[in-house]
Amino acid sequence: MWFWVFCFLAILNAQSCFGIEQKISLNSEKNNQTWSFYATKNTSLKGYGNVPGDIYTDLWRSNIINDPLKDSNDVAYAWVGKTDWSYSRMFDLPSDALQASQIRLNFAGLDTIAAVYINNIFVLNSKNQFIDCSVDLKGRIKPAGNILRIDFTSPVTYAQKQSDAYKARYGHIVPPDFPMNIQNGEPHPQFLRKSQASFSWDWGPVS
Ligand SMILES: *[C@@H]1O[C@H](CO)[C@@H](O)[C@H](O)[C@H]1NC(C)=O
Ligand SMILES: *[C@@H]1O[C@H](CO)[C@@H](O)[C@H](O)[C@H]1NC(C)=O
Repeated sequence: MWFWVFCFLAILNAQSCFGIEQKISLNSEKNNQTWSFYATKNTSLKGYGNVPGDIYTDLWRSNIINDPLKDSNDVAYAWVGKTDWSYSRMFDLPSDALQASQIRLNFAGLDTIAAVYINNIFVLNSKNQFIDCSVDLKGRIKPAGNILRIDFTSPVTYAQKQSDAYKARYGHIVPPDFPMNIQNGEPHPQFLRKSQASFSWDWGPVS
């Protein structure tokens, strides 16, 4: 799973007739451990994340895997794309932000099946890598110590489930059932709005 996100808060103050917008980046600070990640079903598999970034690079930086592009490491690391991952960070608001008419959390792309939580409360679903998404957090956010968490479902698992559901409904699969062996890939990318090369093509790693 390639995961990337550029996210920021847009705080809209409606008190002036033109409105004043303040933008706060929630991306990683350079050489800082702002974001962390863990495998949703195995929290001891964890490290510090980069946003924008991707899970392979973060696992490599955390010394959990080696260079995923070297030799046939892409095949050895196929488990990465079959694992669900959570990314999270804490953030505070500027002192006057709670008076704003809107406090929008914006993502310039979430790759791909993602559920977003603020302080453990679900606020946003995203299933399309290619579009931005945004949610108003007004009333659901505190002045300090907010936890933003994004849970990513494995795109490989999700695509398989979608294909199974299609077959149950229509009695046949959408071909191909599986990519050619030489691709070392994963099936059913057509069920996701995600870069199709993520499921392997002539290169890896998968997803
Ligand atoms: C990382 O950022 C936080 C919050 O801005 C700051 O308190 C901390 O000192 C920084 N750590 C490093 C290693 O730069
Ligand atoms: C969880 O991850 C750790 C660290 O990689 C590993 O040693 C352990 O076997 C994993 N546990 C399970 C149940 O997969």
